[in-house]
Amino acid sequence: MIIALDGPAASGKGTLGRRLAEEYGLVHLDTGALYRAVARDVLAAGNDPADSAAAARAARNLDRETLDDPVLRTAETGAAASVVSTHPDVRQALLNYQRAIAATPGGAILDGRDIGTVVCPDADVKLFVTASPEERARRRHAELAEADNGQNFDEVLADVRDRDERDRNRSQSPLKPADDAHLLDTTYLGIEAAFKAAVELIDAVSG
Ligand code: DC
Repeated sequence: MIIALDGPAASGKGTLGRRLAEEYGLVHLDTGALYRAVARDVLAAGNDPADSAAAARAARNLDRETLDDPVLRTAETGAAASVVSTHPDVRQALLNYQRAIAATPGGAILDGRDIGTVVCPDADVKLFVTASPEERARRRHAELAEADNGQNFDEVLADVRDRDERDRNRSQSPLKPADDAHLLDTTYLGIEAAFKAAVELIDAVSG
């Protein structure tokens, strides 16, 4: 079974993806980590995330063993990831790896922005996870406070809105639900309730 899990920044899809992978015995890929790792490498080389040639080079040379680097979770890397992900050559360079993971025998769950629309259009189940910008900012602020302590709530909210804007309006693989995706609004759901709702949807769809 292949599950595509898409949604905007801080919608809870990462945590949900890990929980669902465990529940169904699937490999899990957080595809945002790929874009974040490319952003990290671009910044570390002293390049501009808006420089498409530099970003594509970083994407082609990406070391996939480094996807759990804590620096990937910082606000700076997240903002740069949103910029590098607008370059078609970057997206193309990361596509085969994502599809190879999706083809893992036994199945996989991939979370991101364009999994149901571009990476795995034939996924068995497609979920599109949303939450209000304020609730997502609240979650991201709590997460960042643990990691790098950097921003106040209003800055995080402005960041979430910026990122939504960029992710939705880019020409390449914009963030949008696939026509056959099931919407899951987690604004008023804790992680347990969101997990249960997702399991119900998946079981109903996959029989
Ligand atoms: O989910 P995240 O916040 O870790 O993602 C970081 C950035 O990567 C996000 O702003 C958009 C981009 N991204 C993408 O364009 N396509 C994906 N499948 C996953 C992430």
